[in-house]
Amino acid sequence: MITVIVGGFFGDEGKGKVAAYIGIKEKYTLAIRTGSVNAGHTVFYNGQEYKFRVLPTSSIKKEIEVLIPPGALIRLDVFFKELELIGRRKGIYVDMNTGIITREHIMREETDENLAKRIGSTKQGVGAAMADRVLRRLKLARDYEELREFLVDSMDIIDRHRDSGRILIEGTQGTFLSLYHGTYPYVTSRDVTASGILSEVGIGPKDVDEVVLVFKAFVTRVGAGPLEGELSPDEAERLGIVEYGTVTGRPRRVAPFNFNYAKRAIKLNSPTCLAITKVDAIYKEAYGVKRWEDLPSGAKKFIEEIEDTLRVPVKYIGTGPELDHMVVREL
Ligand code: IMP
Ligand code: MG
Repeated sequence: MITVIVGGFFGDEGKGKVAAYIGIKEKYTLAIRTGSVNAGHTVFYNGQEYKFRVLPTSSIKKEIEVLIPPGALIRLDVFFKELELIGRRKGIYVDMNTGIITREHIMREETDENLAKRIGSTKQGVGAAMADRVLRRLKLARDYEELREFLVDSMDIIDRHRDSGRILIEGTQGTFLSLYHGTYPYVTSRDVTASGILSEVGIGPKDVDEVVLVFKAFVTRVGAGPLEGELSPDEAERLGIVEYGTVTGRPRRVAPFNFNYAKRAIKLNSPTCLAITKVDAIYKEAYGVKRWEDLPSGAKKFIEEIEDTLRVPVKYIGTGPELDHMVVREL
């Protein structure tokens, strides 16, 4: 069983929580996270907040094995800090060919006027490291002695879980930040759609059972670039949907749920089901609700409108920050 989780808008849809929920509650045995340290994934678990930039969020559960695939890029300091956060090294694997970001990559982005001023990059060195990789001079995990105990060929780990276990792949960022399918040049340095995610891991599209496309109940964007229907900061404040970036702390730009974006994201990712997060931000009485029957009627209508318009079932409905603040519908 293989499941992929993809962001449907501009990142920050709440993939981290959805991934932790699915991984832990649906008893996955292996969690894989693509992408890199520019993307922060947050999860509240047993009253504690965890922020991840390298590990998949369901790594908080000790029974779940963890794999960083060859297409991902990590920073050694962030990786080791997150291992401390989850309190284990057992069952953690890094592909030999995972890319390594260094101080020098970060400095290159910090002094890059185009990235810093025009694009609004998070300046975490990810794009610079990707560029080095394309030029075939980036150092990989296999070049670092301190990673030795974690090094694997991803395929060995995936094969072990493919038939007898359950594999959850956590993508990062969102469809319209894709280098190819997003709002170039206001995009990130990789393809973040389902196909790009699979390519980074090394799994063919026919082997995937579920693609969960995650939309937030409203759209946010950090950094520059187009945002259809953008609200003024005052309007966003009035609606109570102001958010701040996990990695940068910058306030996020806000727009209402957008069906044009959603339709396009569906074509780009071919999801089997949808997750709609932060429904409680729009419908306050939805906070913490766990059963469909208990959702306020406005929230139910909103979900039904999404299904009628997009023709993809909504399986997960996020109603708050805690892991079990979730309505799950049997499809
Ligand atoms: P970079 O990938 O850090 O260079 O950033 C390029 C653009 O993608 C900027 O607009 C960033 O704000 C945006 N971006 C990168 N990663 C994330 C993310 O995880 N969530 C939301 N936006 C992101
Ligand atoms: Mg984020």
